[in-house]
Amino acid sequence: MLDDRGEKDLLRLITCGSVDDGKSTLIGRLLYDTQLVYSDTLEQLEQDSKRHGTRGGDVDFALLVDGLAAEREQGITIDVAYRFFATKRREFIVADTPGHEQYTRNMATGASTADLALILVDATKGVLTQTKRHSFIVKLLGIKRVVLVINKLDLVGYSQEVFEAIRQAYDTFSTELSLKNVNYIPISALLGDNLTLRSENLSWYKGPTLLEYLETVLVGDDNDELPFRMPIQNVFRPNSNFRGFAGAIFQGKIKPKDSLLILPSMQRATVKEIVTADGNLSEASSGQSVVLTLEEERDISRGDLLVATDNPPQIADRFRATLVWMSDQEMLPGRPYLLKIGTRVVPVSFESPRYEVNINTLEHLAARTLGLNSIGVCHGALGSAVALEPYTKSRELGGFIVIDRVTLETLAAGMIDFGLRRSDNIHHQDFEVTRDARARLFRHKSAVVWFTGLSGAGKSTIANLLERKLYLHGIHTYVLDGDNVRSGLNKDLGFTDADRVENIRRVAEVSKLMVDAGLLVLVSFISPFRAERELARGMLAEGDFIEVFVDLALNVAEARDPKGLYKKARAGQLPHFTGIDSPYETPESPDIHINSESLAPETAAEQIFQVLLDKGIIT
Ligand code: ADX
Repeated sequence: MLDDRGEKDLLRLITCGSVDDGKSTLIGRLLYDTQLVYSDTLEQLEQDSKRHGTRGGDVDFALLVDGLAAEREQGITIDVAYRFFATKRREFIVADTPGHEQYTRNMATGASTADLALILVDATKGVLTQTKRHSFIVKLLGIKRVVLVINKLDLVGYSQEVFEAIRQAYDTFSTELSLKNVNYIPISALLGDNLTLRSENLSWYKGPTLLEYLETVLVGDDNDELPFRMPIQNVFRPNSNFRGFAGAIFQGKIKPKDSLLILPSMQRATVKEIVTADGNLSEASSGQSVVLTLEEERDISRGDLLVATDNPPQIADRFRATLVWMSDQEMLPGRPYLLKIGTRVVPVSFESPRYEVNINTLEHLAARTLGLNSIGVCHGALGSAVALEPYTKSRELGGFIVIDRVTLETLAAGMIDFGLRRSDNIHHQDFEVTRDARARLFRHKSAVVWFTGLSGAGKSTIANLLERKLYLHGIHTYVLDGDNVRSGLNKDLGFTDADRVENIRRVAEVSKLMVDAGLLVLVSFISPFRAERELARGMLAEGDFIEVFVDLALNVAEARDPKGLYKKARAGQLPHFTGIDSPYETPESPDIHINSESLAPETAAEQIFQVLLDKGIIT
């Protein structure tokens, strides 16, 4: 809306369409017609049109948008691009995302801040699978308004019947999806019909042109009317008398004397002053960055959240969410990841998906993991409780991303369905006989010696020799060995990445229990993934986990082949074999590195024994 001060507001839109729907042409023409094409770009465009254009030397508007050379060569747009244009009444940011199948993630990226989605349909083709997929993501990401832009009307003789048929088809689908606020606008992006100017060709159409619609549509919820929320970005303490908490209010309003809740600590506080560079305010509301001072002395740090005392967000350490998986690296249930929600980053792991959504048919499918571009509903467990809200209530506190702990790559975007509290019904029981008491009885400490390495590297051989030696010294030990545990506790697991993650997770849990039982546990598993070895380390106290890398080159292990498994794997009879067609991630800084080719197993066992003595675990 144009407000009375003459300030223009901003509309964020996302355009979705398939490769040939004319999306780039549409955006290019909007930019061109709104006169925001700078003259140098225009000159360049005219030249480029002669060279690459598909319009026989006329200006090819798609080239304005398909900026990158690589994209031009492929004739498709890759990745999200943001364009800016303005009219007298409004400013627009357009997120342009490619339409072909595998780019769900780009769309999810572009859509996460959009107020409105333009979904393009080619009038000669009608509502396609892609149209449905785009609509599903639009719905998922909480975009409240959709315009179904029916393009290429010129190719169907500007037929009202065609327009109506497509409108009917989409209406049925969008109702099924509970997508509200859908509008239908017929255009020809190529010829400019009904884009910025009305067209004689579409005289049967009585609605607004696309640009008129975009300029006048009401967007934005009144965030001021929602309960107050402000994440703390900084704590200012220039001197001992002043303590200010800086942040941007994303929802609600506040004035001095209002009571607040500090999350996650749940302390109460009262607003004293609202400080800005231009003096104190009597009130502040959503969108403003302020510094608050409080009446009380409170312990608040960066990342905490200040909220209204009524209607606060939930504090939860478990949740159900919809995940849009965006990485080639599949989601592995039980694997530790990082989750960024609001301003907080916390450890997270997910259970197997409850289901995956077939976004073409909206069917729910059974799934054990999530792959690139798949969407599924999962339960997640956090390392510590955080403030969160259902995504439908708050994009800020309900939207999150999942990050790889090592590469820091963004793996997924997620939307909270609801929070859960693990600790509500399960309480830790304390027993009187403690680990320390058992250590006194056994006369040694407990710990985990974790052997990792390729099959045939010599893990179990060394573990066996070490255990014998420990036994002779009166140490209480137990060996957890891959082959043995897999015939009992883990007999439901195979050798896919997901199963190996679960295999190691369970063994880590068992070794943790055994450490509590006072045993010196020797774990002999290939344990090929760094993330799960770190998970095991993280479950135990500092110093209780000793990683032993039994290092043998693949070709040597293969030559030894004690169980004949490499031979089978090479013959294609043993899929997912470590080192052959399943990866082994070498430890970066193991506590003990055994070169299994040059070191005799007896010597290796002796070496580890010595380390246990040095660390004071045994005496
Ligand atoms: S892990 O990767 O999940 O840690 P684990 O140590 O439990 O593996 O099991 C490895 C043992 O299972 C190997 O020593 C080998 O005897 C047997 N095995 C059978 N199939 C495979 C396979 N595809 N990859 C690796 N080991 C296999």
